[in-house]
Amino acid sequence: MNRLKLLVNPLVLLVLALSMAGCKDEYGRSNAACADVIKAGFREISTDRATRFKGKVQEATALCRGGDKADEYRAVPWVDWANYWGTGDAGSRGPDKTDLKHSSPTGRGIDGALLDLEYQRIELIEFNLFDNYTYRDYVQGRHGRPGNVIKTWDALRLPANDPHYGAVGGDGVQVCDGELIRHRTVTGICNDILNPAMGSTNTLFARNVQFETSFPDLGASEMVRNRHGDRLGLLKPDPQLVSRRLLAREQSDPEACGDGYGPDGAGDAHCDYIKAPFFNVLAAFWIQFMTHDWFSHLEEGRNQAPFAKVGCDSPEAQALGCRPGDAMDRALVADDGPPGTFTQGDTAYLQRAPKTFRNTNTAWWDASQIYGYDELSRSRVKRDPDDPAKLLMQPRGALRGPGDRQGYLPLLQASDPMHPDWAGQEATGFPDNWSIGMSFYHNVFSREHNVFVDGFRAAARANPGGDSGLRDPDRPGQVIRYADVTDDELFEVARLVVAAEIAKIHTIEWTTQLLYDEPLYRGMNANWNGLLGPGDDHELVRNALAKVIERLNESNRDSANTWYSVFASGPGIVGLGSQKEGWDLANPEDVNGGVNHFGSPFNFPEEFITVYRLHPLLPDLLEYRDLNADPNRVVDRKPIVSSFRGPATDMMTSMGLANTALTMGRQRLGLLTLGNHPRFLQNLKMERLESETGMIDVAALDLIRDRERGIPRFNEFRRQYGLEQLTSFDDFVDTRLPAGNAERRRQEAYVEALREVYGQHVCDASKIITNAQVNDDGSPITDCLGHADGSTVDNIEDVDAVVGWLAEGPRPHGFAISETQFVVFILNASRRLFSDRFFTSSFRPEFYSTYGLAWVNNNGPDGKVMERGEPNGHVQEVSPMKRVLLRTIPELRDELDPVVNVFDPWARERGEYYTLAWKPRPGAEDDEAFRDD
Ligand code: HEM
Repeated sequence: MNRLKLLVNPLVLLVLALSMAGCKDEYGRSNAACADVIKAGFREISTDRATRFKGKVQEATALCRGGDKADEYRAVPWVDWANYWGTGDAGSRGPDKTDLKHSSPTGRGIDGALLDLEYQRIELIEFNLFDNYTYRDYVQGRHGRPGNVIKTWDALRLPANDPHYGAVGGDGVQVCDGELIRHRTVTGICNDILNPAMGSTNTLFARNVQFETSFPDLGASEMVRNRHGDRLGLLKPDPQLVSRRLLAREQSDPEACGDGYGPDGAGDAHCDYIKAPFFNVLAAFWIQFMTHDWFSHLEEGRNQAPFAKVGCDSPEAQALGCRPGDAMDRALVADDGPPGTFTQGDTAYLQRAPKTFRNTNTAWWDASQIYGYDELSRSRVKRDPDDPAKLLMQPRGALRGPGDRQGYLPLLQASDPMHPDWAGQEATGFPDNWSIGMSFYHNVFSREHNVFVDGFRAAARANPGGDSGLRDPDRPGQVIRYADVTDDELFEVARLVVAAEIAKIHTIEWTTQLLYDEPLYRGMNANWNGLLGPGDDHELVRNALAKVIERLNESNRDSANTWYSVFASGPGIVGLGSQKEGWDLANPEDVNGGVNHFGSPFNFPEEFITVYRLHPLLPDLLEYRDLNADPNRVVDRKPIVSSFRGPATDMMTSMGLANTALTMGRQRLGLLTLGNHPRFLQNLKMERLESETGMIDVAALDLIRDRERGIPRFNEFRRQYGLEQLTSFDDFVDTRLPAGNAERRRQEAYVEALREVYGQHVCDASKIITNAQVNDDGSPITDCLGHADGSTVDNIEDVDAVVGWLAEGPRPHGFAISETQFVVFILNASRRLFSDRFFTSSFRPEFYSTYGLAWVNNNGPDGKVMERGEPNGHVQEVSPMKRVLLRTIPELRDELDPVVNVFDPWARERGEYYTLAWKPRPGAEDDEAFRDD
């Protein structure tokens, strides 16, 4: 393949080039550098994995976009854009302050950051797709077509034992049609109508790393042995040592915490945790709610196979009080036979990873945690006999307000498919690891489902003969009037709407608070609405781009993916292909035409699960507040663990949804960092495991599961994703913090702890340890990582991926996750949209109804509603989650009034331009949460 000229987002690029040509600001050095950047032209997209863009730029580029600071920090391994102007809080802006024109320093910084991120996305699509079914085709191509533009695969046909096998074409060409393409199916089949099995329940997880580099514990190649010696194993280093020495939350009053269960006798519960000032507990449970939609490695929350041991063999771990008697479910392995190889050119490749695992959930963003992912889980989902388009919601507890009258989920019945330890829980598709947090979101979105049905029915009553917009693929020409819409159809439309609302909330509200800075605000909104923004202002450009994108999607050229991803940023991913001229429900090429899998069928990679092991987000105790008393007062501290499984029902009944929302909305979540795992998860009672202790340390389990699934250790993980490697544990320290600063000292202390746990060795510069990257001078990377041959180096290569990303001190401003987690997200978050027909070419009234599509686009009924003022300089709609809460818990109206983003602590002053300050907003000065630090 020829090296491609960089064709990154042409909109940004064009404006940037034009504007830099005229830079006339006070930063002479920086301006001069901009001129050099223009002269040098833009970097090329790499066609070689080993020399890809690592988020590190040339001196002139750094100076142009961020001045001296950006230049200075080019020496550290962390991405450069985090030091550009305008990418932090108000203090990060250039002398131009609020002037965000592309020619101003601040504008250049933000544009530059977006440009770097686009480069990363393009090269991630180019280098990081490894599908366990189809990799050979991807590398070798098929019938003269390059592998990365192949769109259909035999491996994704429905098998003969699938009940829909005959309906999709049996052993002939398989194409879904009729009822199977109308709605999101229970098992996720027929989302891609030409690849019926893609993303469906029980298909294999994919990978984002070269198969050869997965499962380092096996020591299968010389390179892997060079990298790790004999230092790795499933229980090596001892996961319980890592858990206790590096992950445990220190407590100032251990008795008052009682390992997260509260004090034994009388007395107030108190557990310390490190808090993130700009993200709340609602956000923590939100992401667990999402993971229950996306993936699971267990069948019905468990595995029937015998239990396995979980470490605690080392004297060091035993000295810290680990539990040798813990046990866990054995892994469900799909295939661990020899993976087979093939050769292309003179390179030999594995056809799949040495072991594979099934995603026992649908991979689609389809709200399957609510609606189920197979017949068994669907049978737990209860419909309202009085209106079968609705989910069954029942009165519960004291009726406090109008929201309570919308009801609560019914409980699981003995006749439901369930495990005994789910008894007493609310009935829903995905019931595992249930707590007050899951109860909250399931109730909110089940109410939202019903509110939508009510709205639709009201619209139908007002205009029974009107066209609902829906169409039956078996009779595409026939109008379906409002009066003709059946209960089942409306149920499925409501599901489509709820799933799309969830995806929108996640993309433009949750993520923009998780990554709280201007480049990510723009980037995430671009994923949903496009860089051009919503509305009709840019109709012409949008249409022109849509045509280009259509043609690219049909192209046979292997460069098409690069262009595709770049151009998609203009109109946004959502709705791609849905506005095609003459779009026809009878034409599968139109219905399916907007999806793009970039040559690799969609499922989550195992590496994605790793970076969503976000257990430290949870505090141990909930700071309970009462809406009807004084919202500023914490009335009680309730252990989250006392809501684990069935007991969540009692807690929800006594608190009610409104108080639960207030409680979790005001409380800060836990920072993702070392030494911050909830005590209760390290000491979780799991009697069903019938182990000696009846307990499990979820922090240790997180490590064991990753090792079991062959996740590369942290440094190779970074190299695989195109990030700069670390050369010692010291690299984890954020040197932008002044020496002696408390946070810097904390990070330095953990460097020592890492050295203790993972150790050091005398390096051998003759041992090459990777082929994912090379040194800047083109030489191979060796065991010495640039240090002198024979010197003592840190065992940085052995650090578990989770431990590594938790240890990352330097992070872009407002990032609740680390840059290593983020890069996994850049690739997979956009693929999750690019690959889903219901977010692209089938994002149309024929499927959602006209009423439903408007509901998703406007965040509810009755058109767009705008937020007051210009938060962080943006005219903004009232956020989608705020609208959902206002509909489903109207009691929150006053409390939510000043809230701009539901995942920002509700009483925090949002202040000027992405501040992270922990200060009360007017009216919340008495809130005691602002007193404790
Ligand atoms: C009350 C709260 C929670 C409990 C009791 C809980 C418990 C657990 C347990 C026991 C496992 C291990 C299952 C196994 O591999 O055998 C697990 C896995 C996991 N948890 Fe949690 N968790 C909680 C909250 C969260 C939150 C807030 C997140 C945030 C994203 C999260 C993300 C995950 C992920 C990604 C996995 C791996 C799933 C897989 O292997 O497919 N959990 N959790």
